[in-house]
Amino acid sequence: MNKGYFITFEGADGCGKTTQLELLKDYLKNKRYDVVVTREPGAKGLGEKFREILLNYDGVVSDRCESFLFLADRSQNIDTIVKPAVSSGKIVLCDRHIDSSTAYQGYGRGLDIQQIKNLNSIATGGMLPDLTIVFDIDIETSMQRVGKNKDRMENSGVEFFNRVRNGYLELAKQEPDRIKVVDSTGSIEDIHKHVVSLVSNLLAM
Ligand code: TYD
Repeated sequence: MNKGYFITFEGADGCGKTTQLELLKDYLKNKRYDVVVTREPGAKGLGEKFREILLNYDGVVSDRCESFLFLADRSQNIDTIVKPAVSSGKIVLCDRHIDSSTAYQGYGRGLDIQQIKNLNSIATGGMLPDLTIVFDIDIETSMQRVGKNKDRMENSGVEFFNRVRNGYLELAKQEPDRIKVVDSTGSIEDIHKHVVSLVSNLLAM
């Protein structure tokens, strides 16, 4: 059986990671890899209910409540989709994962970073991605891409998103083996080539 891999895509809203995930999926499928795509929040099934609350609920959501909802969604995604797929030799591409909680709820909202990391570890049962790609872009550009139709999270303001961006860069410094930063200001094609080189290195190991 093939070895399975778990690859996560991260970055501030509007960084272009979802486009890159789709391109990588097509690239790997063309190479005959067995690929599973999932996302947080909102993996297939129960995750869709969490996503609806997290992005669209228009009443008060406390910062800690928000954190736990993302973590609950994460546990469900890991247990029902990621772990079974990786164990059976597939490559799982996940749009956002643990580093979103650390960057958004930790650096962005200001909750205790170490506590968020500990909670992440409980939510995932200790499973870590083999590779995490952070798509880095200045917040002015990313907010222009998001446009006027913002969801609950996207309405958090420019200062919040600058903290999120810097949080991701800090996490990449802390875990340089797992987390790779890709400059997301270039062309879609150039960014895709960079992603392919990172993933090829992983698959060749
Ligand atoms: P999504 O539509 O997936 O954003 P994007 O299109 O940028 O990927 O919405 C997810 C939102 O939830 C996004 O603003 C990031 C936020 N989020 C957190 O704050 N913490 C988390 O743990 C996760 C997974 C997402």
